[in-house]
Amino acid sequence: MRAIQIKEYVKGPQELTVSNLPDPEPSPSQYLVAIHAAATNFFDLLQIRGKYQHQPPFPWISGSEFAGVVRSTPSGNSSPLYKAGDRVFGALQGAYATHICVEEDRLRPIPPGWTFLDAAGLMITAPTSYAALVTRAGVKEGDYVLIHAAAGGVGLAAVQIAKYFGAKVIATAGSARKLDVAKSFGADHGIDYNQKGWEDKVKRLTPRGRGVDIVFDPVGMVNTSLKCTAWNGRILIIGFAAGDIEKVAMNKVLLKNVSLVGLHWGRFLVEEPQVTEQIWSGLFKLMQEGKFKGTAYTDKDFVGLASVPEALGMLGRRDSWGKVVITVPQDGQSKL
Ligand SMILES: NC(=O)c1ccc[n+]([C@@H]2O[C@H](COP(=O)([O-])OP(=O)(O)OC[C@H]3O[C@@H](n4cnc5c(N)ncnc54)[C@H](OP(=O)(O)O)[C@@H]3O)[C@@H](O)[C@H]2O)c1
Repeated sequence: MRAIQIKEYVKGPQELTVSNLPDPEPSPSQYLVAIHAAATNFFDLLQIRGKYQHQPPFPWISGSEFAGVVRSTPSGNSSPLYKAGDRVFGALQGAYATHICVEEDRLRPIPPGWTFLDAAGLMITAPTSYAALVTRAGVKEGDYVLIHAAAGGVGLAAVQIAKYFGAKVIATAGSARKLDVAKSFGADHGIDYNQKGWEDKVKRLTPRGRGVDIVFDPVGMVNTSLKCTAWNGRILIIGFAAGDIEKVAMNKVLLKNVSLVGLHWGRFLVEEPQVTEQIWSGLFKLMQEGKFKGTAYTDKDFVGLASVPEALGMLGRRDSWGKVVITVPQDGQSKL
């Protein structure tokens, strides 16, 4: 198979290269999946530099999200959920490759009508945003929801989910292009959060200027968001894309009855597997109803594993929106 193998840490994605490796051998509990598309994540950039919380022992294959076709089922499982030829998506270390060996609980079926490109980026962002807004914050009709970095991976998923549940969505992002993208996915309003006074603009969009009921924050903007959060508001702590872990002015949290609500999607599988299933069935319902569409970045095509450095570079520079996904040609299609 071909893969982006890491034998030592690199300074940046431009140093990544594609290698020819032996085909992987699935264990009795693993499927062999031929990867047709792989999605990028910001943590890939940290991991290749040795700066992520999870660093596999060398050598390892980069990438963590994929979509593809089942080549073989687990030899030790007499009633596998998927059969050879089924289209699946999943999340596991080793996605920048033409093949991957993977356990059943890391896979989900590609919804009818979905492309590999759109399905490859589903496994992490969509359930994160659903778990946050629905399971943790109880979003409901009429809520005003402020979604930061709304054109990012979790952001575009959050916009669609909040709209489905009848909320008014105020999107923030760092450019006019990104605000247009957020609106094209359903956001009611768009505000550039790089401009001074954005909090006042948010307040003015809410009834009597009371502020928003829910803040969805993947950036690290709790302190500023408290200025435009309503009484009894909830602030969802999703991530720290801006880099810093904030120290929050707790007096403001107290004065407005605000709840700070954490969300760690990766641990749901371990702590509450039954809730994980509820979240996925909720999401598949949205997809069946045509209310949740793929968020793959479409301004540029990335074809072949050799385009991973360029794709990761764009992600790192904030030049992209949604999920940046690479098409992975199989043998006979291309050697890229
Ligand atoms: N809690 C969980 O379980 C969970 C699950 C998935 C992801 N996350 C976290 O959520 C965050 C967002 O993930 P994502 O997949 O949506 O990422 P993404 O697609 O890369 O989007 C992140 C967005 O953050 C904004 N941003 C603001 N300051 C930034 C900076 N200094 N550097 C880079 N981006 C910056 C950018 O939008 P603008 O250019 O518009 O400012 C960018 O588009 C990450 O921190 C990720 O680790 C958490």
